[in-house]
Amino acid sequence: MKIIVTRVIPNRGIEMLQNAFGAETVLVTPQDGPIPRAKLLKVAAGADALLPMLTERIDGELLDAAGPQLKIVANNAVGYDNIDVPAARARGVIVTNTPGVLTETTADLAWTLLMAAARRVGEGERFLRAGRWTCWSPMMLLGVDIHGATLGIYGMGRIGRAMARRARGFGMRVLYCDQTPLDAEEEGELNTTRVDMDTLLRESDFISVHCPLTPETRHAFGAAEFEKMKPSAVFVNTSRGPVVDEAALADALKARSIFAAGIDVFEKEPEVHPALLECENAVLIPHLGSASVETRSRMAAIAAANIIACLRGETPPNPVY
Ligand code: DGY
Repeated sequence: MKIIVTRVIPNRGIEMLQNAFGAETVLVTPQDGPIPRAKLLKVAAGADALLPMLTERIDGELLDAAGPQLKIVANNAVGYDNIDVPAARARGVIVTNTPGVLTETTADLAWTLLMAAARRVGEGERFLRAGRWTCWSPMMLLGVDIHGATLGIYGMGRIGRAMARRARGFGMRVLYCDQTPLDAEEEGELNTTRVDMDTLLRESDFISVHCPLTPETRHAFGAAEFEKMKPSAVFVNTSRGPVVDEAALADALKARSIFAAGIDVFEKEPEVHPALLECENAVLIPHLGSASVETRSRMAAIAAANIIACLRGETPPNPVY
């Protein structure tokens, strides 16, 4: 048995695998940086199970390099746009993800970004640390109010709903845009209304993106969409970078056609569009949505549990279809 864990992850997942199949079967690529493609192709050879990160592309070439004994690719993430699922299916390889466990942590972070961008926390901190704060000023770093405002959620899945729940504490009106409507009871509980994209863009004070990356959602937010938003709007993305046209976002921020943005995910991670880096009104962080000690540990445990079930001939708890 050979199980490849492509990056250093919390011990909980590793220990589960080791306890199930023996320490010698679990091979953790001992690096905390991007794994070069050639090395990945090499270490994957002969694996029965792969536990990759969203930073690794798992495609036909990689699956073939692993070999016909490969049974499962257990992604250490809820998003699985890094995996060619049809290619895996064609080779009889099961793909799993880690849904549910990171919902609340990611919604917490989306709110962190929303609040930081609205209240200009990044700018304020840079200003203070640069020694530029000389006295309290009635006109200094004025932001926009969150309480009582309208929150627009693009993608009302688990994380979108967790985002909406938190909005109740701020007395917000919540709109959402999703192909699939919530049932009336859930809409009532979350105090939310389904609207079309145009209404979402025009009426929201805050827009938070929570959809998966698919061919349909790629560049769902571009120049035309930013143009329709209020000049006081704050835009937040914690889903996947390519859902947003970064150059268009930077243009909108620079032109002040929107007020601010809080961005956790980027089109070509870890690269960030240089124009975005120039925007003082953008809060930019390096894909930290699920990055809490407990959640990352639970994600590792779920990925391990998927592998354990599969290699024991059972149906893993979180297959992706
Ligand atoms: C995911 O799981 O898809 C996040 O982007 C990383 O935790």
